[in-house]
Amino acid sequence: MTERELCKLAIDAMGCAYAPYSRHTVGAALLSKSGKVYLGGNVENAAYSPTVCAERTAFVKAVSEGEREFLMLAVAGGKEQKISDACFPCGVCRQVMAEFCDPDFPVLVVTGEDTFERYTLSELLPHSFSL
Ligand code: THU
Repeated sequence: MTERELCKLAIDAMGCAYAPYSRHTVGAALLSKSGKVYLGGNVENAAYSPTVCAERTAFVKAVSEGEREFLMLAVAGGKEQKISDACFPCGVCRQVMAEFCDPDFPVLVVTGEDTFERYTLSELLPHSFSL
């Protein structure tokens, strides 16, 4: 699985988003060490706060299937299925990533149909909370 292929899957996963309130559709594709890819879309709720981000959807799907080790994550998002410049993971999702991924874990932020930027988790979340 190449970085470009994972980004393409994240773009496709935008189609699974349930975002009737914000119309901001986000897709995530998470590659586990086992070689499986877990897709996620954001799932909104009329009460707003129960909304789950695409990245957490992907992580929760994977972890609840027994996965614990991950190779990389790609994220794509924008209004009404249109890729925006760069849809960065929110702070809560970064903290969830820190639970399972090393500081050098690559996060690919899609910026267009064929373009993306690569960050490490520690660049996005320099001082994660830990117990
Ligand atoms: N959203 C994500 O799916 N991932 C993020 O990291 C940031 C925000 C979603 C949540 C909500 O459905 C919509 O984007 C607008 O905030």
